[in-house]
Amino acid sequence: MKRLAVLISGTGTNLQAIIDATENGRLPGVCVAVVVSNRKAAYGLERAAAHGIPTIYHPLLPYRRPGRSRAEYDADLVDLLAPYRPDLIVQAGWMHILGEPFLRHYRGKVLNIHPALPGTFPGMHAIERAYEAYQRGKITETGVMVHWVPDERVDEGPPILVERVPILPEDSLEDLEARVHALEHDLYVRAIARALGA
Ligand code: GRF
Repeated sequence: MKRLAVLISGTGTNLQAIIDATENGRLPGVCVAVVVSNRKAAYGLERAAAHGIPTIYHPLLPYRRPGRSRAEYDADLVDLLAPYRPDLIVQAGWMHILGEPFLRHYRGKVLNIHPALPGTFPGMHAIERAYEAYQRGKITETGVMVHWVPDERVDEGPPILVERVPILPEDSLEDLEARVHALEHDLYVRAIARALGA
């Protein structure tokens, strides 16, 4: 059985798609071993618990106190995950940048999803920014990419899967968001299968 650790900060719709895939045969021989959130109120934690998946709440705030550090946060995250022996770390809406110590420990094993094409709209609100760029005539389409995370750059790294998403003249932002998210949920499952060599 290949074991995933999924890192989340929010609603966890990508997490749900991954859990479903482990249960409906789309990701055979794969399980979500643990879900980590930096936010206590992240709804994704409830999704995990509803499927009997262990959860960890790992907030950054205590590490901002004098004498503590961001590097310590990352080192503790390594320790927290260790008992679950993850084969792959899957960032699914995780709002922290994983630091070098963490990435060194899990070299070649960390994935991220970005709701835009490679090299475009890194960081927050990528879909909204793509929508605005389309309105200004700067782009004609957007997309989704799942990529390896080799270093601390945001939403950059060798892509595993990239797929384009059309933007239609009659689209509202909500229409575009729905189309991008639907693709994310499918693409992440396929990318995980590929990353695990399945
Ligand atoms: C997704 O759009 C993901 O690409 C981005 O954050 C969002 C997370 O959504 N990095 P969810 O928590 O999986 O619903």
